[in-house]
Amino acid sequence: MITVLKIRLSSDIHFMKNDMNIIRLDAVDSTNDYLKREKNLLTNNFLSVRADIQTAGKGRNSRDWISVPGLDLTFSVVYNTGVNPQAASIYAGAAVLRVLKKYISSDDLKIKWPNDIYFGDSKLCGILCEMVKHDDGFCVIIGIGINVNSEHAGSDKGYISVFDIISEETCLDLLHREILLSLREIFTDFSYPVPDKILNEWRDNNCSIGCEVIYICNDIESKGTVTGINSDCSISVLDSDGIRTTECFDNVIFFEKKAQKAV
Ligand code: BTN
Repeated sequence: MITVLKIRLSSDIHFMKNDMNIIRLDAVDSTNDYLKREKNLLTNNFLSVRADIQTAGKGRNSRDWISVPGLDLTFSVVYNTGVNPQAASIYAGAAVLRVLKKYISSDDLKIKWPNDIYFGDSKLCGILCEMVKHDDGFCVIIGIGINVNSEHAGSDKGYISVFDIISEETCLDLLHREILLSLREIFTDFSYPVPDKILNEWRDNNCSIGCEVIYICNDIESKGTVTGINSDCSISVLDSDGIRTTECFDNVIFFEKKAQKAV
């Protein structure tokens, strides 16, 4: 069953005059894949599809995204202004972090490049941005999965939820709408190359700089340390000899542990 809701926001944020288009699904394979099939929806900027159950939730690099029906938040948002998915990823990560910070006031809440949100060593939120072609051009589908009210204590899988951290239930509807507003707000000033304002926000709240990584360049694997993020959304990695810096996009694998000496 598909219910299309038009939610009028009562928030005092300056988008209050706008309606939010939200499609609520009981169950779907993946909210990103649903939007890819329903191409006629893709011209609606900021339309969001949220599902209580995803039967084949996807993460980056062909991983699965598992969430607990009714307890976690899984939704996708259309951004149809034709930006590249890497830039959309950086903006989306910052937008979600701004909202999660209101719920979790702790320095342990961090972005891991490009846009995962971690609390300490455990993953709280994953974002999958995909570029899709439709009749009027291209758009980015921003898929967001947040562990909200599920419990992960004792699980060794490296995930954590908002509930695990604050010991309180969070209203999924409210969190969803706050994130939609935050996305609209941040994308209002979208520009590429990514401006310093956004990069600095990312730099101030990341757990990637100083991490040891493996990166693959011209088919050669090397070890290095992440030293920064750049306006083209790449991260800079200094090789383990401390000589050469390489700009990396999706050719980077993070180690589990932070490097001893942050650069
Ligand atoms: C990752 O951690 O690699 C990204 C996870 C993204 C999960 C969300 S849940 C809503 C949307 N639909 C999907 O199938 N994936 C994204």
